Amino acid sequence: MTSDPKNPPLGKTASSLARLYAPQIKGKAVLTTGVSPSGLGAVFITAIAKSEPSLLILAGRNVAKIQETVQTLVAETSDSPVAIRILELDISSLDAVRNAANTVNGWTDIPHIDVVVSNAGIMAVDYKVSPEGHESQFATNHLGPFLFTNLIMGKVLASPAPRIVMVSSNGHRLCPIRFHDYNFQGGETYNKWQAYGQSKTANMLMAVSLAQKLGSKNRLLSFSLHPGVILTNLGAHLDWKTAFPLMNELDRFLGNREAQMTSLPLITPEEGAATYVFAAFDPDLSTHNGSYLTKCGVADPWVDTLKPWATSSVEAERLWKLSEELVGQEFVY
Ligand SMILES: NC(=O)c1ccc[n+]([C@@H]2O[C@H](COP(=O)([O-])OP(=O)(O)OC[C@H]3O[C@@H](n4cnc5c(N)ncnc54)[C@H](OP(=O)(O)O)[C@@H]3O)[C@@H](O)[C@H]2O)c1
Repeated sequence: MTSDPKNPPLGKTASSLARLYAPQIKGKAVLTTGVSPSGLGAVFITAIAKSEPSLLILAGRNVAKIQETVQTLVAETSDSPVAIRILELDISSLDAVRNAANTVNGWTDIPHIDVVVSNAGIMAVDYKVSPEGHESQFATNHLGPFLFTNLIMGKVLASPAPRIVMVSSNGHRLCPIRFHDYNFQGGETYNKWQAYGQSKTANMLMAVSLAQKLGSKNRLLSFSLHPGVILTNLGAHLDWKTAFPLMNELDRFLGNREAQMTSLPLITPEEGAATYVFAAFDPDLSTHNGSYLTKCGVADPWVDTLKPWATSSVEAERLWKLSEELVGQEFVY
């Protein structure tokens, strides 16, 4: 496949791209977080399962739901069964993350993991804190993935072509990292959309940091992405009649006229997960290490209205330091 990242193939699905990238997928061990049925993570692994990965590691907090996804995978790959392993992982809890990372690092029969897709996430939930006292969206969408990714980094860097994909969102436009008040003063200053925006900004900055710290030294490729807008369980708890006007108000406040939240073009889960397949397997992305991808291509900062707070290497390093402090462990590469 010789795709031009500046002229991405549009109208693709996860399945069609998985067929296209079959040579890149074949033989790869892929770990994906958040793989409950009908979510984008599940659609992604179901699509790539037919292209002969060596192993799919399915990580999530609800093992019964993961088993449902496994049943689909088994049914869809009956011709050439794929090796599957389940990892229990509640990414909102730092203790649970440490346990899960220990489990992964103890798998002596799995010498390396080639691709990690950090997909698990929550959106616009009411104020709540994680077991360690961090605001739940920041904890689930950023701090957990930050710790987990770093703790299993040895296995990832043992791959001949390691890659990490952070699933972010155009929702990053809603808020930079609130270094002065990342925890929303224990809920007093809480806005659930700003909290989502902060956590999705963090996903983009994490990809920037990983590319900077481990790109040239360890050949690690790292990308963040926006899948598009897809009806999944992510917003199932929201009353959209009130949620959209709220977002419009916030967008106007931020001067983001491009984001017309009331007329969001919905795409299918297969179309949304296509950018996952692109990020995880496109062979021509090495000159774009650390980039934010959308619509199966490298996002254009102007056309796709990226916020500079989510692409700045200064913000990225500041967030790395804050994250180390909050998880209580330094990761120096
Ligand atoms: N859908 C969209 O329009 C859209 C747009 C932009 C970005 N995204 C991003 O895409 C990603 C996937 O979202 P989705 O739309 O597929 O939503 P989804 O259907 O709600 O899937 C989210 C997944 O994350 C898992 N998860 C949530 N909290 C977890 C925790 N504490 N530990 C482990 N797993 C946890 C969920 O597990 P449970 O089933 O157990 O809850 C589920 O498997 C998210 O990062 C989201 O921010 C989605």
